[in-house]
Amino acid sequence: MAQRVHILNGPNLNLLGQREPETYGALTLADIEQRCARAAGRLGLSIAFSQHNHEGGLVEAIHAAIAEEAAGIIINAGAYTHTSVAIHDALRAFDGIIIEAHLSNVFAREDFRHHSYISPVADGVICGLGANGYELALEAIARRLQTTVEV
Ligand code: DQA
Repeated sequence: MAQRVHILNGPNLNLLGQREPETYGALTLADIEQRCARAAGRLGLSIAFSQHNHEGGLVEAIHAAIAEEAAGIIINAGAYTHTSVAIHDALRAFDGIIIEAHLSNVFAREDFRHHSYISPVADGVICGLGANGYELALEAIARRLQTTVEV
């Protein structure tokens, strides 16, 4: 069976396409989900894609990935990236590969976006590449899993 990757999206990302398109691009979250599903198919992975406006929803989605022993989590926690110890702690309990993703280059933006509670518990971080970042994160996970199998 294809190994599963949970792709978790935080607050306000349901507004993609209409929210600050000059920063976040013209694609909607549904467009990104479609692209991820296609990329996952190519890479032999399956995905569970979700969006949560509440911090606890993201925490519970991480618990679901833990319970199912998913191979990886790609998380764009939106503004909770910069504030949430609860999401940091939940991710610490996950044994698979964690990639933190952001559409925008958070380091080229306001100072309060430069700190992430997720980076210290992530295997890798992708930011500033728009929606492509999600597909690149999937590819990175697929390669990591292959390496693990080959070793
Ligand atoms: C974001 C960057 C965050 O700083 C911001 O709060 C978001 C989106 C991104 O994808 O670029 O909501 O995570």
